[in-house]
Amino acid sequence: MSKDITNVKFSGCLSGEIIIPPDKSISHRSLIIGAVVSKQTGKKIRVKNLSLGKDCLATLDILKNVGVKFFNFSNRELEIDAKEAFRSPFEKLDCGNSGTSARLLMGLFSSINGFRATFTGDESLEKRPMGRVIKPLSLMGAKINSNENKMPIDIYGNDLKAITYNSPIASAQVKSAILLAGLNSCGITKVYENYLSRNHTEVMLEYLGANIKTGKDENGFWVSIEKSEFKSGEIEVVGDISSCAFFMVAAAIIPNSKVLIKNVGINPTRTGILDVFRQAEINFSILNERTVSGEKVADIEVCYTKNIKPFEIKGDIIPRLIDEIPVLAVLATVADGISEISDASDLRNKESDRIKAMVEGLSEFGIKIIEKDDGFTIYGAKKVNKKAVLETHLDHRLAMSYYILSLINEKETIIKDFGCVNTSFPEFLELMDKIKNFRG
Ligand code: S3P
Repeated sequence: MSKDITNVKFSGCLSGEIIIPPDKSISHRSLIIGAVVSKQTGKKIRVKNLSLGKDCLATLDILKNVGVKFFNFSNRELEIDAKEAFRSPFEKLDCGNSGTSARLLMGLFSSINGFRATFTGDESLEKRPMGRVIKPLSLMGAKINSNENKMPIDIYGNDLKAITYNSPIASAQVKSAILLAGLNSCGITKVYENYLSRNHTEVMLEYLGANIKTGKDENGFWVSIEKSEFKSGEIEVVGDISSCAFFMVAAAIIPNSKVLIKNVGINPTRTGILDVFRQAEINFSILNERTVSGEKVADIEVCYTKNIKPFEIKGDIIPRLIDEIPVLAVLATVADGISEISDASDLRNKESDRIKAMVEGLSEFGIKIIEKDDGFTIYGAKKVNKKAVLETHLDHRLAMSYYILSLINEKETIIKDFGCVNTSFPEFLELMDKIKNFRG
């Protein structure tokens, strides 16, 4: 993967405004669900503000490989025509680094009778657990061969039967895979989870007219789906709060900063970071709330905060901020005391083992951090003052988190393979340069 970067302490402040690029999770869903709806209605579906990160482009390429056509792709807009989809591909389906592409598309393709394909991925994705989707899809009747629940994975699509599934983990990828399979199965498919994971699949399906219901009972949060008559529509993707998180933390920790971040998705299943900012007593405001394609969106203004309080993250907030934990760990390094992150063992199954990697990474910066099975304990420091050479393990969120900490490191920081940020956020450095104010 592409080049290492070297940063020296940034002695200015961050100021001005940026528009945050489109949400990765919603972009994947706009392509996949857009194709399902186009296939059923026989009409083209327009998607606006699609993420151009490599992960979403992997989903787009896979859909092309199974017969979905895309038209007029420019300025992050395109039209989806899936009338001739979904046919078995001639090539293997390469998901690159993207767990969302792999798990959601396994769900959809498992439900297409006669469909056959092999899923592969990069070095990181091939190590990640896929049993979490293979198990429920197999219970529905899909035939799936894997390398001990890892990639490569062969899918043989079938007429599936509906199930009720109690998911052992709160995972939106697992839930979405089952819902996409359930949409094309006989009967009502129901998924339970103990904590509510991101619900973008549910929001988009409902927005497009699906027979979907959600609720909560003594067994947990549930969602049910059955075959549906869709209405045609346009999907506009809102900005990504997970990308926004890097700028929020940067503005909070760099003296004299004040940044307005526009068009940020604030779906409550994603806003755990706002709760942590409140706990840490960071100075921020939510402005201009509105709804776009069923998703809540707002502008977020963050100001430098001198005394950042230490915080505790555990329990049901975890799925609401799982991808922000690396950059919240960076925030903890400057807090006035000890911060605790627990109940987050699934971090070990992300693009890298994010618990182990963050412990190595923050230690490299000279920060005291103690590894636990399900998280870490971070001791806030007055200063970051150590030359640091960081391994990203091809994990985009680690690369960007280290970048934010490098801005306040008084010594040189070298981040290896920084090009992996293109997975989710190719615009990261450009936007950072836009708000760097060297006069301070
Ligand atoms: C995602 C769900 C989360 C998240 C990932 C994207 C999605 O993963 O970490 O980056 O788009 O559904 P899990 O479902 O494994 O928790």
